[in-house]
Amino acid sequence: MYEPTPDDRFAFGLWTVGWEARDPFGDATRAPLDPVETVHRLAELGAYGVTFHDDDLLAVEPDRDKAIAGFRKALDETGMKVPMATTNLFTHPVFKDGAFTSNDRDIRRHAIRKVLRNLDLAVSLGAKTYVCWGGREGAESDAAKDIRSALARYKEAMDILCGYVLDQGYDIRFAIEPKPNEPRGDILLPTIGHALAFIYELEHPEMVGLNPEVGHEQMAGLNYVHGAAQALWHGKLFHLDLNGQHGPRYDQDLIFGHGDLKSAFFLVDLLEHGGYDGPRHFDYKPLRTEDAQDVWDSAAANMRTYLILKEKARAFRADPEVQEALRASRVDDLAQPTLAPGETPADLLSDDFDVEEAARRGYHFTHLNQLALEHLMGVRG
Ligand code: GCO
Ligand code: MN
Ligand code: MN
Repeated sequence: MYEPTPDDRFAFGLWTVGWEARDPFGDATRAPLDPVETVHRLAELGAYGVTFHDDDLLAVEPDRDKAIAGFRKALDETGMKVPMATTNLFTHPVFKDGAFTSNDRDIRRHAIRKVLRNLDLAVSLGAKTYVCWGGREGAESDAAKDIRSALARYKEAMDILCGYVLDQGYDIRFAIEPKPNEPRGDILLPTIGHALAFIYELEHPEMVGLNPEVGHEQMAGLNYVHGAAQALWHGKLFHLDLNGQHGPRYDQDLIFGHGDLKSAFFLVDLLEHGGYDGPRHFDYKPLRTEDAQDVWDSAAANMRTYLILKEKARAFRADPEVQEALRASRVDDLAQPTLAPGETPADLLSDDFDVEEAARRGYHFTHLNQLALEHLMGVRG
């Protein structure tokens, strides 16, 4: 039980298990990983896919063509898929003031070229989603960046990329990954909501959705489950980054469930029962304290935790007492339109309604929440 298979559609970024554990205060504690080994190890663990930044492929083989050939061979040998790819627009010093929104026009042009180049590779490997995480798109001083111009340049870049995909006849969509801060003091498109509003200003909003990360919304003090649900409601949850975070602080990238477990439970419930059909993609970091073996143990822990929560969510939904509690809390009532078919505001105005009686009704949310917790704690179902 809880053994992942490719049908579960678990995917990992090369940069997750491959993180050498360098942080702002200390050197690497692990050696670089060969992407070829990563593909094989993840396949053995039951993952279905692997994702990458252009530069991740060059971790141990500096020759791009050779690196790509080795990676392709590993994919063919294992049957692993590449559901998503992305661009590193943050490590090289040239991106210190951003990429699409650098104040330096030459650098903005270089950034778009770097994406175009990797987009061709992503499509040739079968990727259906191309993530844009604008980690360096931001500022530390409000004087340093004209935010309205920066958004115009961000839009210009996205419009160019969408136009290119259309011209080439590629079958790939973009997914913007919001983050409030780190590495920049403030990052543009800091939350799901900001990114959604931005997408609808683009030339091809239908080609652009979201890749929201659990920890990033929680860094902003926001409820990730609500954010993911809203993205789903807009048809914009193209992809997602699952991990764990302990509230607003630096980006922890913990194993899924190792941060806010209750939120992870409700997230899995949403994904499994709310119509999300994309990959379950983990963007976590094996702890810096751990060794080479723990890299794979921690990768497995992400998938196992997800599968345990999936089973808990199923049992929660199937429990007759939960179903009764959901009805008592009138959760289903909210799915009903507030006006009946054909009813008008005039009908509404003539309604007879006892405000005081309605105000006295309780919603019994405490009982419902307790039932969820008891399922999660393993004392029911
Ligand atoms: C982070 C981000 C990145 C992106 C990745 C893909 O906080 O570092 O989450 O890991 O997800 O660059 O675009
Ligand atoms: Mn992160
Ligand atoms: Mn991420």
